[in-house]
Amino acid sequence: MNDKELVAHQALQYVSENMIVGLGTGSTANYFIDALAKRNRDEKLNVRAVSSSVVSMIKAKEAGLTLLAMEQIKEIDLYVDGADEITADLTLLKGRGYDLVKEKLLARSAKRFIVIADESKIVKNIGDNFPIPSEVHPFAWELIKNFLIKKGTGDIRINAAKDGYAITSCGNFVLDFNYAEKDTEKLNALLSQTPGIVEHGIFYNLAHGALISNNGKVREIWKN
Ligand code: A5P
Repeated sequence: MNDKELVAHQALQYVSENMIVGLGTGSTANYFIDALAKRNRDEKLNVRAVSSSVVSMIKAKEAGLTLLAMEQIKEIDLYVDGADEITADLTLLKGRGYDLVKEKLLARSAKRFIVIADESKIVKNIGDNFPIPSEVHPFAWELIKNFLIKKGTGDIRINAAKDGYAITSCGNFVLDFNYAEKDTEKLNALLSQTPGIVEHGIFYNLAHGALISNNGKVREIWKN
């Protein structure tokens, strides 16, 4: 079992009967989806799932999980997802995928949000390894880029085929920026208060716990 698979299996201990569970996106979250589907089947847990992306919805469907649409839920019991970066105080960077809005909605709506990752995701400051994504209304991107350029460096995200701009599942564009400001609380406030930014990749004060694996060992970090 590799390190990502290990934390995914470890997270299963927080699942119990009749829960509504939010499913994350990415390779680590995929291991959790498979493990959850198996346990749900074997132990008849009657778990229902809500996906954070089109990719995780397809994965969950293939694995045999019962899915609820976001419109059908008021809150969820548990959200388990990976992250691109994690700091010691459990601030996260997310959103390398295209469903930032759904990911943050599930994180906020969960009674318990557990992030699962290997040690490579631990950073001192958010933005150390990746630019910070901001999902923006298409008509606003030039205005917002012009504002953000005064705070850092970056540009609009290009799609995988490199023949146009990347478009999120909500039909928006993404601005990936590195900022001079390293204080995540201030950056979080700045991006949250910028008109035209629909959502951004800093998950501040949202995760309740993290399971971090390193060479076959798992350590847990919990918020007080
Ligand atoms: C998706 O938008 C991200 O927030 C993912 O959670 C992140 O990219 C983690 O992916 P891996 O588990 O593949 O590293």
